[in-house]
Amino acid sequence: MRIAVVGSGYVGLVAGACFADLGHQVVVVDNDEAKLDALQNGQVPIHEQFLPELLARHRGSRLEFSGNLQEAVRASDVIFVTVGTPQTETGEADLSFVESVAREISGALGGYKVIVEKSTVPVYTSEWVRKVILRNGTDPACFDVASNPEFLREGTAVADFLFPDRIVIGCDNERSAEVLRQVYAPMTDGSYYQRANAIPQPDRTSVPPPLLVTSSKSAELIKHASNSFLAMKISFINAVASICESVGADVNQVCQGVGADSRIGRRFLNPGIGYGGSCFPKDVLAFRAVARECGYDFRLLDEVMHINEEQRTRFLRKVRSALWTLRGKNLGVLGLAFKGGTDDIRESPALFLVQALLQEGCKITAYDPAAMERTREVMNSTLKYANSAYEAARGADALLILTEWEEFANLDLSRLNQELKYPIVIDGRNLYDSEVMAAQGFTYYSVGRAACHPEGVPAALRNGVKKA
Ligand SMILES: NC(=O)c1ccc[n+]([C@@H]2O[C@H](COP(=O)([O-])OP(=O)(O)OC[C@H]3O[C@@H](n4cnc5c(N)ncnc54)[C@H](O)[C@@H]3O)[C@@H](O)[C@H]2O)c1
Repeated sequence: MRIAVVGSGYVGLVAGACFADLGHQVVVVDNDEAKLDALQNGQVPIHEQFLPELLARHRGSRLEFSGNLQEAVRASDVIFVTVGTPQTETGEADLSFVESVAREISGALGGYKVIVEKSTVPVYTSEWVRKVILRNGTDPACFDVASNPEFLREGTAVADFLFPDRIVIGCDNERSAEVLRQVYAPMTDGSYYQRANAIPQPDRTSVPPPLLVTSSKSAELIKHASNSFLAMKISFINAVASICESVGADVNQVCQGVGADSRIGRRFLNPGIGYGGSCFPKDVLAFRAVARECGYDFRLLDEVMHINEEQRTRFLRKVRSALWTLRGKNLGVLGLAFKGGTDDIRESPALFLVQALLQEGCKITAYDPAAMERTREVMNSTLKYANSAYEAARGADALLILTEWEEFANLDLSRLNQELKYPIVIDGRNLYDSEVMAAQGFTYYSVGRAACHPEGVPAALRNGVKKA
């Protein structure tokens, strides 16, 4: 099929590359000239596993980049809209980018086309997109509007796109549903997965994925409800972690026991410094606003957000209790991205904590495998950057782990101990076994577990033991 993808961000670029890999002819459109130049010149603007391979495979043949939306629409059967839907000051989703794309598309619809809302949008958006296109004089027989929410996670976006738990298509008639079935046919009929050069299948996924056909309103609600539920799962386990800290239980053991129940599941029961990123914070807030508008007071979501904010404050208190005063302290920080595997720093809890600690007068040297360039664009020069985790730790009063990158879970602990001025690690992601850390000579703080101290050190001297 001939597909236009409007927006070349995390979702649009990945969707475009994956549609091309499924065998479709794709043009990805953006109005950001710098981004377009980079894409047209062979650069890969975001950090995503398998994305460079797919772009190299299809660029210039099945995958093109363009700044001309109308031309791309005229040449396509299906138009996926993947522009941003940031939050407004009052918490609703800002749909002005979506509206402007709908307006621009109107003039270019010739034969029958399906306009697919892939951005995360509130219920009724498909109806509004349809109204805007009609208002601009388009024949109603020329188009349908459908909703196809995207569930990919940054860091594993390509694999998530091609091996999803489900594909949801919200279509209000059979004609548009059939077009979307064809788009995803290489996945739903399993033919994509037979190919020798298909992206490798991740563990825990099964193919072919099920395709759920719903109304457009249901599809819009599925996305908001899914993200809100996942955020709730994170806040729930963070609240449990706080209780574990008070009573001396181990939250990891609790997660294991709770998550073994197949009705609950182990995934997303990860205590830490709270959720962030470009999706959960804004989507929970937007769903809260949708509910309010519909006359339902969704207070559960207020609490989800409240626990999330509190989790950062609790972590700051932990740093303070480990180090006493903060002004002038040298801290090594591992992780700036909002989670491991991505360079995205939008709403990153790690960055929030770094900023708060800088304000307290700490001196910070940070390392992140992918997010330092983006951080440099938004942070003032008070933050120093290191080339490795060990360099970030060098001479520091303590090391903070703020993002769950795999490489941070596999550090050479004796080298780390040598690099630090004081062997204190404050781990906001629970990457290490407390006993192992104590045995390696660290004072180790984590989330939802008791602090551990170096073996053989008298209790009175345990915190901040100065090395010989
Ligand atoms: N990032 C994720 O992990 C993720 C996952 C699922 C869903 N979503 C949703 O998908 C949507 C896009 O998210 P993202 O992270 O890719 O956003 P993004 O900000 O990375 O990308 C949006 C792109 O749209 C472009 N754009 C804006 N207006 C345009 C216009 N009129 N014409 C052409 N291009 C235009 C921007 O220049 C930008 O490149 C959001 O609604 C988001 O909530 C995101």
